[in-house]
Parts: sequence; structure tokens; C-alpha cells
Amino acid sequence: MSSSIGPLVGAVDQGTSSSRFLIFSAKNAELVTYHQTEIKQFYPKEGWVEEDPMEILESVKTCMNKAVDNLKALNLSAQDIKCIGITNQRETTVVWDKITGEPLYNAIVWLDLRTSSTVDKLISKTPQKDKDYLRPLCGLPITTYFSAVKLRWLLDNSEKVATAAAEGRCLFGTVDSWLLWNLTGGKEGGQHITDVTNASRTMLMNIQDLKWDNKLCQFFDINQSMLPEIRSSAETYGHLFDGPLKALPISGILGDQQAALVGQLCLKPGQAKNTYGTGCFLLMNTGLELVHSNNGLLTTVGYKLGPNKPVVYALEGAIAIAGACVRWLRDNLGIIKTSEEIETLASKVESTSGCYFVPAFSGLFCPYWQNDARGIICGLSQFTTKEHIARAALEAVCFQTRELLEAMNQDSGIPLKSIQVDGGMTANNLLMQLQADLMGINVVRPSMPETTALGAAMAAGHAIGVWNLDNDETKVTTDLYTSSITEKERDDRFCRWKQAVQRSMHWIP
Ligand code: G3P
Repeated sequence: MSSSIGPLVGAVDQGTSSSRFLIFSAKNAELVTYHQTEIKQFYPKEGWVEEDPMEILESVKTCMNKAVDNLKALNLSAQDIKCIGITNQRETTVVWDKITGEPLYNAIVWLDLRTSSTVDKLISKTPQKDKDYLRPLCGLPITTYFSAVKLRWLLDNSEKVATAAAEGRCLFGTVDSWLLWNLTGGKEGGQHITDVTNASRTMLMNIQDLKWDNKLCQFFDINQSMLPEIRSSAETYGHLFDGPLKALPISGILGDQQAALVGQLCLKPGQAKNTYGTGCFLLMNTGLELVHSNNGLLTTVGYKLGPNKPVVYALEGAIAIAGACVRWLRDNLGIIKTSEEIETLASKVESTSGCYFVPAFSGLFCPYWQNDARGIICGLSQFTTKEHIARAALEAVCFQTRELLEAMNQDSGIPLKSIQVDGGMTANNLLMQLQADLMGINVVRPSMPETTALGAAMAAGHAIGVWNLDNDETKVTTDLYTSSITEKERDDRFCRWKQAVQRSMHWIP
């Protein structure tokens, strides 16, 4: 039976904490149905974060099957789905054997800190011992965050990976490539491809010509034969090999933060969005101009919506721990049973009563880039309760975002007057109000929060002509949050936050 809501587009959203498959109407960008599954994380040593590539793949397949079942229950037909897009946690590094199709190691997640000493060695190789040495080529500092450093560690520390690489059997990919290769047939001819946004997070792609860069590959001593082919973010890469959507084209790939930029329709220079997921990522569209940061931000590819379309760049502020802090309060401290409960708990008190929480579990990312910072909760007294700690955790996300905003305003020279937000945590109204209070600018939340998946669906639909992004007139309804505190209070609290951050630094001997 054919639907009356026009062509549908599916999107795989493979994040750090969960996998989802969402189905949108290309006519009005409305979410029709979705299915979500949480992903296990493994912490084999302090600072290490791994995921199982097979679990990632199977969770995506399960979500696709269940979302298609939901569609049937809505009396809609899977045949109305015209294509699918993929959006994914970025930088997370997967290596697999192209003959057997088996992963050669667990996925090393972007948050993982095992490469701290690899980073030190790499920096010591640079003429001025400078972590920013490669920025002119790739837009990124040498830190534990990016894939090339993780791949170097794998080649140096896993015999299985090193042997497969020496024998020409080892393929490298970020999660988009791992999924695409498997979903298009795996060892039976799967496509080994990535898009420019994901490639821009590896440190191996030249940010100007969008090709694997000889100098970068030499610096990390990576053989280019194991790298995927780099393509645009909107074109047909291959077709689904099996499952209920067999033979459908996969025609859009964007790293999740870049997908949210597209999904929020930040398609003009100066427009910015902030996504609250496991981490928190503020991206500003800088158009055709590549803006290098003097304030610890990242220069990255925003999108390239077709093989012959221009590349659009973005400036990015990245925070490692946002939703992950709520998950930690749930899983490690047990002070909430579900992530949603944090809002109720934190709302029971009117302030943190001087408690500050710096969740530097994976060091500090922008603007500090301190691998050796660790989390602290300070300002405790006998008065402090779990409610204060919960509220301090939410405020931490907001203070970190303010730090990104200040860096972004300085780098771009155009102070942002409002910020578009999305991601799971934005359902938390208290967080949204705290964010407006602590930044002092308006916070604009779309009523449809799934903008990351929407961006991937838009790119995929655009590639096959069912979604016109050049002329997108999608009407977005929003909620607006404005600051309710004085500038003095905002600045005083920010000043205390900065003091807390200083105390979290250089904790690891
Ligand atoms: O760079 C890491 C980022 O892509 C992870 O996103 O949504 O899983 O926090 P998320």
C-alpha cells in the first residue's frame, strides 16, 4: 500500500551511546518512526573506551528491521523508502580483515585516552615540539581524539593488526566506513568508502584538496592502501546487500555533528548549532572559507553535498563529556535510574550551593586540549546533596558550552546572538534554561530534535533527487529560552567555574 505522505528516506544514526534507524518524510521533513538500541561501552583500563564493532553493526541492522516493522504497523510501505543516509560517531577507529570480514580489534572510541604517550612521541617529532604543527594541513591539533593517532597505536600494539596490515588484509575505517562496507556486502564486495566530513576527522586528509595527504600519512607512518576512498557527503556509494530494504541506495554520509549542522539548516556562513549528545559540539558554518583557530577550536569540513558541489567548512568546538556525565551519574554512582531523572533531581534545588563539577573524564578538549586533566567535584560541604551534584553536572555542560562560544566569537569575529541546539539532552528544559542563563544569549530548540539523523536523510534524499536542499523551505517550529539572571551573576559563576577547571588540570603524574 502506498502512503500519502510522499517519499520516505531512512537514516542510520550510529552514536557513541546508541544506534538508531529513523524514517522521515521527504515532503515535510517529519519523523515518521524510529527504533533505538543502547550500545555497550567497555573500559578495560583507566582512560580506555572501546566498543564492539559487531555489536555496532548488529544494533544498526536490528534498528532497521524494527523501524521497518513499525512502518508496517502504521500502514505504510517499506517500498516508499527511496534511499538511506548514514550518520555516525566520528573518529572512533575500526580495523578489520577484508578477507574474513572480522574486526581485528575492538573499536577504539573517540573518547579513549590510551594514545597519550603516542601523542607525546608524535609531538616530540615536530620541529618546535608543537601540537599544532599539522593544523595548516588538516585543521586539527595532535591529540588523542583523532583517528590517525588511534590507528598508529593499533599498528604498534596489536600483533594481529600489524600482521594483517603487513599482509595487505587490514582495512581502516571510521564507523561510517565499517557500516557501509558491511551493509553493501562486506567480504562479498562491500564498498570501502568514507565521506569528506568523516575523513576530515582522521588527521590524514588534506583539508584543502580533500585527498589523503602524503605528508600526513608519512608523519603517522600509515600506508594509504588501508584507507577508504574519500567521496562527497551526498552521492550513491552502493546498495543495501540484504535485509528488508535490500537494494536501496545508500546515498548520504555525514559525521554526526556535521549532519546536525545540515539538519538544523545552518547552510549559510555564520550560522551555528550546538548538539548535546555523549559529548557536546558547537559548529559554525564558515562557508567556502577555511578559518584557522587561534583559540583551540578545530577547522573541519562542514559538508560537500555532491561530487561537483563546493566544500563548505566549519569551525568546531568539541566537549568530550556532556550526556556521558549523566550516564556516569546513572551507571557509576546510581543517583538516578534513568538519564531523564536528572532533570527532576536537579530541579529540587535552586542552585548548586557552590558545588562545581568538572567532568574531565577524558581530559579536557576545546579550548584546553589537556589529556592529563581529570574530573573533579569541588565546593562540597555537609550541606551538599545528590541534587546539588546533579545540578552541577548540568551546569558543567553549560559552562563548557560558554567556553566554546567565547572561543568561537573570538575566532570568527562575529559574536553569536543566539544558538540553535539539538540532541538528546535538549529534552531537559532545566538544562536549556541554565544554558541561556549561563551564556547570556538566546537558546533556540527545534520541536523536532532529531536533527542529526534528519541531516543524513536530507543528504541522502538530495543525492537521488527526492529532497531539494538547494531550496529547502522546511518550516521549523522552535522553543526559545532567554537568560533570566544578571550579567554579574553569570560572570561570577563563570569565574568560579574557571577556577574549578584549573584545579582539574595536570592531575595525571
Ligand atoms: O566527535 C565525536 C562525536 O561525533 C560523538 O558524537 O553524539 O556520540 O556525542 P555523540
